[in-house]
Amino acid sequence: MTDTITLRRPDDWHVHLRDGAMLEAVASFTAKQFGRAIVMPNLSPPVTSAASAAAYRDRIIAALPAGSDFTPLMTCYLTDDADADDIAAGHAAGIFTAAKLYPANATTNSAHGVTDVAHIMPVLERMQAIGMPLLVHGEVTDGDIDIFDREAVFIERVMKGLIAALPDLKIVFEHITTEQAVHFVDSCGPNVAATITPHHLHINRNAMFTGGMRPHAYCLPVAKREMHRLALRKAATSGSPKYFLGTDSAPHEIHAKESACGCAGIFNAPYALESYAVVFDEEGALDRLEGFASLHGPQFYGLPVNETMVSLERSGTAVPDAIESAGSKLVPFHAGAQLNWRFLSS
Ligand code: NCD
Ligand code: ZN
Repeated sequence: MTDTITLRRPDDWHVHLRDGAMLEAVASFTAKQFGRAIVMPNLSPPVTSAASAAAYRDRIIAALPAGSDFTPLMTCYLTDDADADDIAAGHAAGIFTAAKLYPANATTNSAHGVTDVAHIMPVLERMQAIGMPLLVHGEVTDGDIDIFDREAVFIERVMKGLIAALPDLKIVFEHITTEQAVHFVDSCGPNVAATITPHHLHINRNAMFTGGMRPHAYCLPVAKREMHRLALRKAATSGSPKYFLGTDSAPHEIHAKESACGCAGIFNAPYALESYAVVFDEEGALDRLEGFASLHGPQFYGLPVNETMVSLERSGTAVPDAIESAGSKLVPFHAGAQLNWRFLSS
């Protein structure tokens, strides 16, 4: 039985680092495990210009522990009036790695999101031309579509048309949650990939209702039925370069989660690698963890892999019930549980 695994330092291709006090509270957790991360732009107000992304990147770097060599990769929040020239210039200047499509009102701080993809076609055409990836929150927002069907309906109503119109656009279908999304991504060319979170590999929708309402298991896209979780585990551990690590760690203060209208988001950054390692171990695929965590993402983005290595050992990690950091109180994913793997760093 493998007791220690060593892999190239992984990257997190989808994370919410927030701003201000929450950024101070969470930045170190992501920087400890990952070499780079694609940082989501859904601040309030959102990061829509190269200038605001450069300023946000500086705030992230200032919040890192001394000596950290973590690199934040910035994204542009697309709105109906997104400016193709500013986005292309920001990409050429190394400020924007990618741009993010939030359908308007799909999730936290997405009120400024895109109301119809038709409105941003000139921007997407430019992105296709310059090889800049589009990151997609793949859910329709219509109130008459059942919340558990919103991703599958998005594939039919938006994704298929997007790919037909822009066949060479690099697209990351973010935090996929359904068997339909796996089939769709598998059916596309190498320019279409997907990230998978640790929580969607561990929990199905029952987790939100075990013995009562469980706000810490609530995120968007919401966890689906067990058959979908199993399809995601198969995809993540398949070895296909189309699938890579994206935690979607989305911290909210405990009082904002445990509320009459609790926020969506699971804070998984502190034990993210341990969480993925448990899944790969259970699936007999530890030899494929490095591809998923450290190789497929850089390959898709056209970036070098990280130089340094990290290790995990088979031993217990006790996840605390809550984490207090820089004045914030947060409940981590797997709170109160014991994980069979421990992150050892380099
Ligand atoms: C995210 C957040 O809180 O910013 N929440 C979540 O449940 N994942 C937004 C998002 O990525 O949808
Ligand atoms: Zn997210």
